[in-house]
Amino acid sequence: MKVAIDMGATTGSAPATLDLEELLATRLLVQGNSGSGKSHLLRRLLEQSAPWVQQCIIDPEGDFVTLADKFGHVVVDATRTETELTRIAGRIRQHRVSVVLNLEGLDVEQQMRAAAAFLGGMFDADRDFWYPVLVVVDEAQLFAPSVAGEVSDEARKLSLGAMTNLMCRGRKRGLAGVIATQRLAKLAKNVAAEASNFLMGRTFLDIDMARAADLLGMEKRQAEQFRALARGHFGALGPAISRRPMPVTIGAVETSARSTSPKLTPFEAPVDAAELIFTASPEEIVRPVVRRPA
Ligand SMILES: Nc1ncnc2c1ncn2[C@@H]1O[C@H](COP(=O)(O)OP(=O)(O)OP(=O)(O)O)[C@@H](O)[C@H]1O
Ligand SMILES: [Mg+2]
Repeated sequence: MKVAIDMGATTGSAPATLDLEELLATRLLVQGNSGSGKSHLLRRLLEQSAPWVQQCIIDPEGDFVTLADKFGHVVVDATRTETELTRIAGRIRQHRVSVVLNLEGLDVEQQMRAAAAFLGGMFDADRDFWYPVLVVVDEAQLFAPSVAGEVSDEARKLSLGAMTNLMCRGRKRGLAGVIATQRLAKLAKNVAAEASNFLMGRTFLDIDMARAADLLGMEKRQAEQFRALARGHFGALGPAISRRPMPVTIGAVETSARSTSPKLTPFEAPVDAAELIFTASPEEIVRPVVRRPA
């Protein structure tokens, strides 16, 4: 069945569509610097395809939980044991339930372990349950980093292994990876290379541009165009989108992100500033400090 997902507009007002069935077979990589509009793009894709396909979102910031109200996704809070997460992941395949795995509040190592356990459970589902699922991973460089970071080798191996399985061996099991990253150079090469569709947003650093040019089979000079892209504008290429590079302006979304860009408002420091910051409030004494991803 051919289902065309409306992503927005290409040049003029012609619609830019994604062939969902082709996407399930050929996967998608989205890259763009912070604020280029990747999460908005993923949300557009998820909203438009929700009536057609089961979805699982690996959500490091808890941004996508707002899909639950309108589209019925179940939010899975990742503060559970790895065994529990693996079992839940198996059940979502059996019962074909769309979910958001909310990893907000966990430290990097915990996020990697939880995502690995969950993806592992989906991957290892019984053959009877290999229905198609769109598996969207935002900030994919956290789960498939190109170089060893400060997390333990074990966590990195688990997470990288799960992402590699998703992108390299997921198709037969019905798993279609859609991954987004701020920095292509920080994403493991073998994971990025398994996507045949690309949406490239504003990219500033030379090293990321070189990787983008490499993946798209472009001259580095041609890839320079990504530097000037405005928010919400992407260059698209791939069998599910367009056989030639095509500009896409991502359309509006129906649900809102939980975190939006901060708005500038007139600034005035409170009179008792020093006292406010040096006095602990009762709630914060019981709340642990969370280590954020680098
Ligand atoms: N096509 C668009 N139309 C309207 N608003 C947009 C569009 N794309 C992005 N925005 C808005 O721009 C802001 C930044 O977008 P978004 O959060 O998607 O960026 P991002 O690439 O995911 O950044 P980060 O890497 O920091 O997560 C958001 O407030 C979002 O609502
Ligand atoms: Mg984002």
